[in-house]
Amino acid sequence: MTPEQKDSMTRAARAAMDNAWAPYSRFRVGAAVLGGSGAIHAGCNVENSSYPVGTCAERNAIGAAIAAGEKTISAVVVVASHPEPVTPCGMCRQALNEFGSGITVLCVGENGDERRYLVRDLLPDAFDDGMLDGRKK
Ligand code: THU
Repeated sequence: MTPEQKDSMTRAARAAMDNAWAPYSRFRVGAAVLGGSGAIHAGCNVENSSYPVGTCAERNAIGAAIAAGEKTISAVVVVASHPEPVTPCGMCRQALNEFGSGITVLCVGENGDERRYLVRDLLPDAFDDGMLDGRKK
């Protein structure tokens, strides 16, 4: 993720966050992933009156990237309506890990603070497709 890509991704994540559908939590989240093509794909959280149906910004951004034809993801920027940086929830860590434990995760707070991780640091000893290899026939 170059500095220019980081700036574009942060802008895209903030634009998506502004469109968040979060009438229940009032906690708005935006995410932007960098696909292997170089394109940026954004998502926001989309809540539901049946609470468990709601989805997170990160997984919606991944879905947008895959639907656009991306096969790889190298970085994600996460922003939220919160002063400090917000890190992806457990389910989103697993969703990101599907596309690589080496994905860079940059979390940017409204106060301007930034925290940078790799997926493997946020989700150590992750379950992945390698574990399916040993399944019983
Ligand atoms: N949320 C995200 O979109 N991403 C995260 O990583 C943390 C939580 C959303 C889910 C819900 O709509 C709201 O934030 C409050 O949990």
